[in-house]
Amino acid sequence: MSTRRQHLLTLAAATVAPGLIAPAFAQQDALKIGVILPMTGPQASTGRQIDAAIKLFMAQNGGKAAGRKLEVIIKDDAGVPDTTRRLAQELVVNDKVSALAGFGLTPCALAAAPVATQSKTPLVVMAAGTSSITEASPFITRTSVTLPQVAVGMAEWSNKNNIKKVMTLVADYGPGIDAEKFYADRVTLNGGSVLDKLRTPLRSPDFAPMLQKVRDQKPDALFVFLPSGQGATFMKQFAERGLDKSGIRLIGAGEITDDDQLAAIGDVALGIVTAHHYSAAHPSAVNKKFVADFQAMHKFRPNFMAVGGYDGMRLITKALDITKGAGGEALINAMKGQIWESPRGEVYIDAQTREIVLDMYIRKVERVNGELWNIEFDSIKALKDPGKKK
Ligand code: DHB
Repeated sequence: MSTRRQHLLTLAAATVAPGLIAPAFAQQDALKIGVILPMTGPQASTGRQIDAAIKLFMAQNGGKAAGRKLEVIIKDDAGVPDTTRRLAQELVVNDKVSALAGFGLTPCALAAAPVATQSKTPLVVMAAGTSSITEASPFITRTSVTLPQVAVGMAEWSNKNNIKKVMTLVADYGPGIDAEKFYADRVTLNGGSVLDKLRTPLRSPDFAPMLQKVRDQKPDALFVFLPSGQGATFMKQFAERGLDKSGIRLIGAGEITDDDQLAAIGDVALGIVTAHHYSAAHPSAVNKKFVADFQAMHKFRPNFMAVGGYDGMRLITKALDITKGAGGEALINAMKGQIWESPRGEVYIDAQTREIVLDMYIRKVERVNGELWNIEFDSIKALKDPGKKK
């Protein structure tokens, strides 16, 4: 809206009866959020979950922020960083979005970071988990989780449960390297030993030779991090090679028992212990309502990606309410320190690091009422990202 028109509206508002003011404000432009997700390609399950969560949030909240219409523009980057950067630029320059959000993979979030910095546009990471992402721009915050948070949670549990010799198997890029380092370092610090560290490529990994190495070296446990969507394939191969009956415990980040894939994985998942920030079985009233509403709308179960998207929308809209629709530095500042009850439990945004602080849960796959669920049985409360330097 032009300044002149705004001025005229202000004048009009001052002279007419209060009841007549509303239509003038209703004519204000919609506030826009640009969401970049992998809607196609190997990470499509991330896009599908977050897109579904955003639709639920919009339906529940009347599609408004700061009293204005809120428009969400979803763009598909297929998980390709060059595409992410181009889309981020277009959303900022052409669509004039107040915030960027989404980002299914670490390299995609990092590719968009300079756009956020240069245009002073807040960028909310709803999915990716490498610790350093929030250090790539002062305009980045996160509503997913970091892999150091997950890995430290799993390491603490391993050490308390007589797991002494371990191996790690991770996807060979940012979040996998974070997971490997923070799991191995913490396990070693607590007196355990790491026999070997295995890495698989992000694209088209072949787990067979890795699983043979694990079988040969017989650790007490194998710790695994694989990005969302690869869990079912890995579990199938783990079972096909008989490793589920070899006495080697499978543990890891919650992607291997993903709520989105658990039914497809089937009974080989039973008893597997993982660390993660969200289970669809989280026993709170807020989560029960979230899962019921999500399933009623979409006919599938929300996973941890959905919660990152849902919380991201909550963070952005609350911040827009606070700034009365202003963007830029005011908007990122309004995100810092926000605290709320997420479907996963209470979370807040650390004002110094812009990183999410959350409860890290230890869960075991169990059959309840005929379905497989990640049942939480232990947690580390209010865990800050161990990846940030103090
Ligand atoms: C990342 C991607 C994932 O699918 C996931 O589950 C965790 C982290 C990432 O690229 O950072």
